Formats: sequence, C-alpha cells, structure tokens
Amino acid sequence: MKLADQPKKGRQGTAADRKAPAATVFRASGSSTSIPHGVRREIIKKFPVKANLEDYDATYATFTWEEAQKEISYFAGGKMNAAYNAIDRQMHAGRRNKVALYCVDAENRLELFTFQDIYYLSNRLGNALKSLGVQKGDRVFVFMPRIPELYVSTVAIAKIGAVVGPLFSAFGPDALRDRLQDSEAKIIITTPELKPKLDEIRDQLPDLEYVIVARNEGKLKRGELSYEELMVGASEQLTPAHMDPEDPLYLLYTSGTTGKPKGVVHVHNDIIGHHMTSKWVLDLREDDVYWCTADPGWVTGTVYGIFGPWSNGASIVTYEGRFDARSWYQLIDRLHVTVWYTAPTALRMLMKAGDELVYEHSLDSLRHVLSVGEPLNPEVVRWGMKVYGLPIHDNWWQTETGMMLVANLPGLPIKPGSMGKSLPGVYATVVDDDGNELGPGQLGRLVVRPGWPAQLRQVWRNEEKFKEYFRIPGWYFSGDNAWRDEEGYLWFVGRADDVINTAGHRVGPFEVESALVEHPAVAEAGVIGKPDEERGEIIKAFIVLANGVESSDDLLDEIREFTKRQLAAHAYPREIEVRDALPKTRSGKIMRRLLKAWELGLPAGDTSSLDDD
Ligand code: PRX
Repeated sequence: MKLADQPKKGRQGTAADRKAPAATVFRASGSSTSIPHGVRREIIKKFPVKANLEDYDATYATFTWEEAQKEISYFAGGKMNAAYNAIDRQMHAGRRNKVALYCVDAENRLELFTFQDIYYLSNRLGNALKSLGVQKGDRVFVFMPRIPELYVSTVAIAKIGAVVGPLFSAFGPDALRDRLQDSEAKIIITTPELKPKLDEIRDQLPDLEYVIVARNEGKLKRGELSYEELMVGASEQLTPAHMDPEDPLYLLYTSGTTGKPKGVVHVHNDIIGHHMTSKWVLDLREDDVYWCTADPGWVTGTVYGIFGPWSNGASIVTYEGRFDARSWYQLIDRLHVTVWYTAPTALRMLMKAGDELVYEHSLDSLRHVLSVGEPLNPEVVRWGMKVYGLPIHDNWWQTETGMMLVANLPGLPIKPGSMGKSLPGVYATVVDDDGNELGPGQLGRLVVRPGWPAQLRQVWRNEEKFKEYFRIPGWYFSGDNAWRDEEGYLWFVGRADDVINTAGHRVGPFEVESALVEHPAVAEAGVIGKPDEERGEIIKAFIVLANGVESSDDLLDEIREFTKRQLAAHAYPREIEVRDALPKTRSGKIMRRLLKAWELGLPAGDTSSLDDD
C-alpha cells in the first residue's frame, strides 16, 4: 500500500503516448455529431488503437458465450470464482505491481493500491471473515463510502464464497432495515460515520451477528469488531472458494412498482459477461485508467466499477467526494483518465457548468466516454462532441440483466438518442404484450432472449416476482418501452410501470409512500416521477394530512427531511402537494396513473375503477 500526492506521470502511459492508426478514425453518423464552427477544441479524437470489438457484424454472426469462457480462469471440475478472476489471476498475468486502484478521498488525497495490495488485503479480510464463521452462501453486506476498504471487502466476501450485499452509503435506517431483514444478513462492514444509521435498527435485525467497523477510533459495543484488528490478526494466504458457476455472487436490491425492494440474485458465472462487455463496450485494456462514477452501492458501481474492469486488468479510479464539476475535471486531468463511464444527469450538470470550465483543464487523456442509467439526450451527445472532442456512448442494461446488453459500441456509428444495438451473444428487441415481435418504428416492450451469462437467477425468496420477468416463454421482459429502427438500434421510450428514475437512480414509489406515512402528520401518500430537465425525473408526493393537522411550509419541509433521513438522500420527494383525498381503486390502491395525469395536465383516461365516494 503506498501513499502519494501525485501519481507518477506516464506510469500507465496515456492516450497521447499512443499513435492512432489511420484506419481507425471514429465514424460519426450523419451531420448531427459534427463539430459546430467556432469551437476552441476543434479536434475529433481518433481511437488510439483499434477498438477491442472491431467488426461488430462478423462477431455478432458467429459469437457464442461458450467461446468467452476461454477468457476466464476456471479451477478443476469447472469451478470458478469471480473475485479470483478480478484480482488473483492478475498476480500471475504480469500485473502484480500494476496500479489496480487510484483512490481519491473527499479531501483529494490520493492512495494507490497495486493488484498485489488488493490481493493480500482481500486475502486477510477473507480469512478474518472465515474466522468469524462466515460460510459459503452467507450474506455479508458492505455499507461504506467509496474508500479502499469497500473495494477490498467486496473482493474478500466473494473470494470466500459468501454473498456480497452492496449498500449505497446514503441509505437511511428504513432502507437498510428492508434489505438487511429480507436477506437475513449475517455481517455488515461499515464506518463510524455510517454506523449510527444502523444502530437505529440494530434491534430489528436478529440475524445480524457482527458489525465490522473500519477506521473506528471510539469504543466498540458488543457484537462490533474493528476492521483493522481483524486484518492484523489474519493470514494473507487464502485459497479462494471453488464455486459452482451457478452459486450466488451478490444480492442487489432494486425497486419495482409494488412492495419493498427486491433482492436480485447474481452468480459467479456473471464474470463472463462482465469481462466481455468491459472489453467490448468500455473498450478496456490493461493500460487504461478507467473511472466509473457510479457508487458500488448500485449495480453499475459493482459490475463496471469493480469486477469488469479488474477482470480486464485495467486501473480503476474512485472518488469519494460528491459531484462537483470542477473536482471531476480535475480528477480526469490529474490521473490522466482514459475511459470514463458516467450518467446523463451528471453530464447535464457538467453541461450546465459551462464550456469554459472544460477548457481550463487538460482532458486530452480521455479516449472513450460512456453513459448509462437514463435517457441520454442527443443534445448532450452533441455537446460532448464539441467540448470533449469525443462522442458519448450510451448503453442499456439493468440490475436484473447484470451486464450491458445494448450499446453504442466504439466501432459502430453512434446514433445520438439511441441506446445502441444488441451486443454479440444477445438478442434484444421489441414485442407487443403477447410477445409478438414488432417491426421497425413500432413502440412496444423491450425484451431480451434469455441465456446471457449475467441474467438474474432468482429474486431472493420471491419466486413469483422472478417469474414475472419471464411471463411469456422465450422472452425476458425488462419493464421498459422502446422501439427499434431498421438497423437494429434501440430507442428508449419510458418505463412500462410506475418505477421512477431520478438522476439515474431507480426508486420505487411504494418505498417512498411507506416512508412518508411513517410520519405522524401523513395519513396517505401517493408518489410519482415528475419530468425534470436536469434529473430526468424528480419525485413528487401527493399527501393527505392526518385529521386535524394543518398544512404549512415548515411541516412540508419537516416531512421532506424525515423521508430523506429514513430512506435516502436521492429518494425523498422534492415536491409535496397536500390534497384532501387521493384517487383510489375499489380495492384501495392509490391510482398513481391519475396522479401523474393531474400533474401533467393530461386527460385522466379510464377512471371506471375509481372510488371517489
Ligand atoms: O428504465 C431503464 C433505465 O434504468 C433502468 C435500470 O435501472 P437499474 O436497474 O438501476 O440499472 C441501472 C444500471 C444500468 C432501466 O430499466 N435505463 C438504463 N439504461 C438506460 C435507461 N434508460 C434510458 N437509456 C439508457 N441507456
């Protein structure tokens, strides 16, 4: 483990060091991505080397996932381990002393970790967890800010065959309780700053045996253990668990329309998909300095912030600080980031921060920029072209799909506004409600032929929910609406259900409604996504106050704060409207469809089941 203020320049080599072969010039589609006149950065960057997936059509025609298994390390008898593929095998692939992790904390201090560092640290923690009785299949949760211990913990848990449970550090007590209770978590690893949120619900978690606290300075209570003391006492030699490819790797909680968040179960076999898509879509190679801005509490941060890039031997960058345009550009400049995977809301905020801020920094190291999680407006793609000299590559996937399935690949022309095409080995298309495939230009349900390696294997203890995804044989239903064009590019239209997508975060209205009605002043709540230029959607709540309670700005502020504290900072309703009553079905379900129609000033549609007495 080394501590340094600045990484050595040129340590990994930057894009500028490499020569661009003339044959691999970016092919922009049509005039929409051409650079407008009068722009200071007049370049269109060229790929420094050929794209990893050079010939899409030829690969698409012949590729099978069996072929990809050759890129993965297996143990005897077809056993495997995703964490072994991410870290341990780099020890024998000449990458032992290569930087695996550039960790920049909230005060901009940089710490570097080589693959060897992560290897030994995760071995120690793996042994420590085993000494606490953790066995294959046990659920161990990670509730930490983006500090090195988070990355070490994720690898260590997977290495010993336990199931990783990533938790977003902004979660409040309610969000934690739902996930830890449902999964019957045995251990959680956290920090002193985040632990108080857990303390509030600790007595509601009978299965939780230990709380491991990293960087603790105060006194620990019964059942709490020091991360550092465990590490010191543990051996750095560990044989990784030999897992069946179908054994669980992690449990990712995500939101649907109804009920509490559901635990999506992924397996070690997923690493095949992580590896190939990081190679094809992120276009990663071992000399890349790669920054995925998503928090590992979400699927993007786990899959493409940890497993996928490490499996390809790339160096990953993590930044503990919050979003800030200047700090983000400084980070790219300082660490010579070459590949950058971010989200539309962040890009829209960067666009708002202005072009001049871009030009104050040297972003010349960047060679490939990508975005995911919500619709990426063509305007942002064009702006990216103007200021970064690079197109922004949108791609589509979900917590359930476990890996990218549709993408604008580096070797294909980009269509701004489209999510791209099905990856090799994947068939994503658009069907009607009965599963009949629709032709180009027709709006329908976005579905995928089952069988890709990272497909969800279960919904944790909820077979019924799992089956809903496969309700028509031969298709996985994503819950999104889309259309496809003549060339097979897919265009996102919206969710087919009430799930809200705010700043790329998937939020279930039911969770927010449940948190709201916990407040004593709230009798009923109905929650919708309201279109917002910057965040895609914001959360809007319609509430009915309890008998005798008077509405006031202070009260609404208090309710907002209450929800934020209980649930999460991203999941609170920015807007609250008080109503005398909410529209409900005869069975008492709040009609969110109608709330949305109210909000948008649209006709209410079919209200035959509306109970307004
Ligand atoms: O509605 C789609 C939207 O995000 C949903 C998946 O969210 P989540 O499971 O949290 O996974 C996020 C990481 C990919 C999808 O059902 N979504 C994802 N990518 C796009 C998108 N919407 C529009 N364009 C995209 N590229």
